[in-house]
Amino acid sequence: RVGAPPEPGDYDLVVVANRLAVDRVTDPDGTSSWRRSPGGLVTALAPIMASREGAWVGWGGVADEALEPFTHDGMHLVPVELSEQDLTEYYEGFSNSTLWPLYHDVIARPAFHRQWWDTYLTVNVRFARAAAATAAPNATVWVQDYQLQLVPRLLRRLRPDVRIGYFHHIPFPPVDIYSQLPWRRSLLEGLLGADLIGFQRRSDVANFAGSVRRLLGGSFRSGALNVNDGHGGERAVTAEAFPISIDVATITALSRDPEVQARSRQIREELGNPNTILLGVDRLDYTKGIRHRIKAFAELLEDGSLDVEDVCLVQVASPSRENVGPYQELRDDIELAVGRVNGTYDTMGHTAIRYLHHSYPVEEMVALYLAADVMLVTALRDGMNLVAKEYVAARGGKGGVLVLSEFAGASDQLRKALLINPHDIDGMKDAILEAVAMAPQEATKRMRSMHRQIITHDVNKWSQDFLGRLAGGEQAADRQEHD
Ligand code: G6P
Repeated sequence: RVGAPPEPGDYDLVVVANRLAVDRVTDPDGTSSWRRSPGGLVTALAPIMASREGAWVGWGGVADEALEPFTHDGMHLVPVELSEQDLTEYYEGFSNSTLWPLYHDVIARPAFHRQWWDTYLTVNVRFARAAAATAAPNATVWVQDYQLQLVPRLLRRLRPDVRIGYFHHIPFPPVDIYSQLPWRRSLLEGLLGADLIGFQRRSDVANFAGSVRRLLGGSFRSGALNVNDGHGGERAVTAEAFPISIDVATITALSRDPEVQARSRQIREELGNPNTILLGVDRLDYTKGIRHRIKAFAELLEDGSLDVEDVCLVQVASPSRENVGPYQELRDDIELAVGRVNGTYDTMGHTAIRYLHHSYPVEEMVALYLAADVMLVTALRDGMNLVAKEYVAARGGKGGVLVLSEFAGASDQLRKALLINPHDIDGMKDAILEAVAMAPQEATKRMRSMHRQIITHDVNKWSQDFLGRLAGGEQAADRQEHD
């Protein structure tokens, strides 16, 4: 089904991701233009792409739109077209209603539909062909995330000359959960088309290796597995942890910007100058533990441990995957819970939960991080959680307490956070109270230690480590320290 190989392209480094590295912005007068997407991945890769004849293959964000390749801000962009049906079956369906819940420990029930699988395969073929037509002879191709797990193998069939990396941004589940997937062998074979497969945590690597052993019968030894190269020989596939990080320089610079600092003081005033601001920042996703967090906070108000005159929880929940049923139900649940808590505890001057169903520019986020005394990251399962790392970067070692779920990958690096099990509501309540009452000296000590970790492990280091390893480099010795 993969078809005849296309003519090779001109680009030495090709990134393949579901979304392009640019977003469309439409001005009030109706003209539209592109803007580089926010976020660490794009920020880290843009300069590498500019210096290495790089191209980015991805979907432009609007259904049924055929776009020619174009250049923006020094980056070559190759749009892949998706129809309405592709969006329903490949993106909302197989990617976000089958794989997403399955890979996040079945917190929501995964749906298995053969039609969705067929479309996932068809769309992965389209991405693989676009990558094959963009990559120069012997180029490096770096495939991103669970939407494109078949691309490594499909691409290798089209272009055996290219070096293929794949990075999995979300968790890889234990084999007994993964095995529910009717297409479990095909996806593993898809991934094994890569030379290097990167995961966030060592536990993800172990889960993946366990699935390969059980379902395909191959054993990774010292991180490597020999597979058939399709020409009677063998080639090695490596699986390793490369914990992703953030663009520390940008967050640090913003945290020192007088305008951002003034905005953070203004936020505090606008909230009625509470003694303590608690903050949650998440995509509105059922993996993030927002319900659990609100429950713990509500119980602390209920039993009188916290008072609405002193403490306010700011919850930013950015809209996400709004056509997918469980996301709509989650929004209803959260908004009901917030309404109940506020209806019960608000006073004229103070609100218990300031709930914001928006996304904000990074300047506003950093102002919020500076205003927040306690950051709550209570994910039930999360590949990494970059919000936790952004909070640490923004604080610059100057206090603030991070309450962090042990089920977020970031807990492997941020050991000085108050680590919690979000299912244990009493434990979470204790941690919130400990955070609210923590002596500034202790908070600063913990924050400094975490800040040291973050500044020595930013997203540039992550991409260099991965690409260095993909190019045949040795395993970075100090990477193992913290992952
Ligand atoms: C997670 C995934 C990404 C995805 C992002 C936003 O971080 O790992 O692959 O791009 O969520 O989700 P969306 O469905 O809007 O692309």
